[in-house]
Amino acid sequence: MAILNAQRTVHRVVLFAIVCLAVTYLLLDQTDQVPARISWTGYVPSSFDWAARKRRHPIAESSLTKLPTGHPRELPRIQHDFSAEQWTEAHNRTQRERRNAVREAAVKSWNAYREHAWARDEVTPVSLRGKDSFNGWGATLVDSLDTLWIMGLRKEFKEAVRAVSKIDWDKGNSLTCSLFETNIRYLGGLLAAYDLSREAVLLRKAVELGEMLYAAFDTPNHLPPNQFSFVAVKEGLLYASKHESIAAIGSLSLEFTRLSQLTGNPKYFSAVDNIKRHFERTQDETKLPGMWPVFVDAKNNFQATDYSFGIAASADSAYEYLSKTYMLLGGLDESYKKMHLKAVATMKKHVLFRPMFPDVYYPAAPPDVLFAGTVLSNGRIVELLPEVHHLACFGGGMFALGGRLFHEDGDVTVGEQLARGCVWAYDQFPTGVMPEMAEMVACPRPPRSSSSSSSSSSSSPDPLAPCDWNETLWRKANKGSEEDDGSKSLPKPFSAVRDPQYLLRPEAIESIFVLYRITGKTDLLDVAWRMFLAICKATETRGAFSAITDVMTEGYTTKLDAMESYWIAETLKYFYLIFSEPHVISLDEWVFNTEAHPLRVPRA
Ligand SMILES: *[C@@H]1O[C@H](CO)[C@@H](O)[C@H](O)[C@H]1NC(C)=O
Ligand SMILES: *[C@@H]1O[C@H](CO)[C@@H](O)[C@H](O)[C@H]1NC(C)=O
Repeated sequence: MAILNAQRTVHRVVLFAIVCLAVTYLLLDQTDQVPARISWTGYVPSSFDWAARKRRHPIAESSLTKLPTGHPRELPRIQHDFSAEQWTEAHNRTQRERRNAVREAAVKSWNAYREHAWARDEVTPVSLRGKDSFNGWGATLVDSLDTLWIMGLRKEFKEAVRAVSKIDWDKGNSLTCSLFETNIRYLGGLLAAYDLSREAVLLRKAVELGEMLYAAFDTPNHLPPNQFSFVAVKEGLLYASKHESIAAIGSLSLEFTRLSQLTGNPKYFSAVDNIKRHFERTQDETKLPGMWPVFVDAKNNFQATDYSFGIAASADSAYEYLSKTYMLLGGLDESYKKMHLKAVATMKKHVLFRPMFPDVYYPAAPPDVLFAGTVLSNGRIVELLPEVHHLACFGGGMFALGGRLFHEDGDVTVGEQLARGCVWAYDQFPTGVMPEMAEMVACPRPPRSSSSSSSSSSSSPDPLAPCDWNETLWRKANKGSEEDDGSKSLPKPFSAVRDPQYLLRPEAIESIFVLYRITGKTDLLDVAWRMFLAICKATETRGAFSAITDVMTEGYTTKLDAMESYWIAETLKYFYLIFSEPHVISLDEWVFNTEAHPLRVPRA
């Protein structure tokens, strides 16, 4: 008996210990606070030490701008207060089932990559081969790390970390790299995976890469060119570009700031703070004050005199990063707030538009939606091109986040109108997915010049007000594309589809995710699920998921045999998170870089 009792006691103790461990693991899992430091084994430093390189244009230690000092501010609450929600069991089950379906899609994609393209940049989802389009450092490998972690795929995560710890940034397959892409995918991916897992080797690789990208700032005016030529940098012959996109130069601030925060070395922050000063200096002096032209002359003192403006390709994340950098800096740099508020004010006046809906389609009420177009301005005449870009669909999230952060409730509403605009566009096409780029007919705008004062006088008409259908205007706008085959069958008010592809892009679900977390509106969950099913149906291949040639295809779509790393990094992550509990990667604790990599916001 005694022996039996003792055995029982031992059993109980062991059982108890196991339960404790399991509970601890689950709790840690939930709070993302695992002080992992899994393994240093296998760490191989890069073959070129960028930190030891001598600068051609040195910066004195004393002239570096330090991170703003002081305690992070208490920022306004971003997320909807979900604590009072009474989730039913049915709701919980639906969320769980949808989440699992997204995870299955991610596992399928990851397995295709793992089996057919391990450590390459991408897997081709039809032919199932490896492909290197981002220097061959393993773009999908690094870009997927945090998604694997968030989805609880820890075995896969550890295996990926082991491969990442051997990346050699000096052994790429190209003589140049894109500063922008390398920063958002590789550096952002490493920093977020480190912030989540605290796996030290990830920070080590991030610092190696950060040192390399920091060398891009070794130019006469300390502004980096997007085209990073390894030879030119090593020779000290690098110059900023005369024709640089604002997205390239304006989307470094989150990653470089986080790198300074994590390492305590201010030089990365100082480098992007210098860029910020140029944006700040020129914001009111462009041909569309408040915004910057898509391309600037970074070589000649950051001249911003070009005439094309917008928030889609080559501009987008320059705007996205303003409010997010403010947040990451704990609200201690007001200039980011000012720049954001001025930029969105100009967007509301000139860039956003409301489509003109045919009354016969919507006898009750037209959809309450907005889009962001392209603007041409010479400083006096401002012309809006009512284009619809999938890339611009991030705008809904940007407006809503900024609206919460800066107490601008109207901007949350605009954000919702933009996000629902993209959902509406998804619903207009046979695949249930919107095209890369299309054109529409917009409600006519009251004539105004760009120099009109920023204070909105009550007499000035609302440029975003709804309007009645005008057949004459529609015919006028539709002239020219009328002969295009198929354009007649386009759902009004679309007038043309300029690029019918869907490239597995995330921006629409990104904004729906942000809007759900901010407003708590549960219909957005069904919207997201509808989008997910449509995307899967249109893009799934035997091995993975593929970009497609034409969203207007009825039935079987033609595949492009391409699956960029952002499919797992962004699209599937946002789908997974909207079906997760709202405290998982809370928007009050994390900011997402433009590749959907969450960076931890310092606590107030
Ligand atoms: C649904 O999930 C939430 C969050 O985990 C939980 O608090 C709630 O009790 C669940 N509801 C039911 C009915 O199980
Ligand atoms: C419709 O648009 C045409 C062309 O811009 C314009 O001349 C006409 O006044 C508009 N009609 C209405 C009813 O607004």
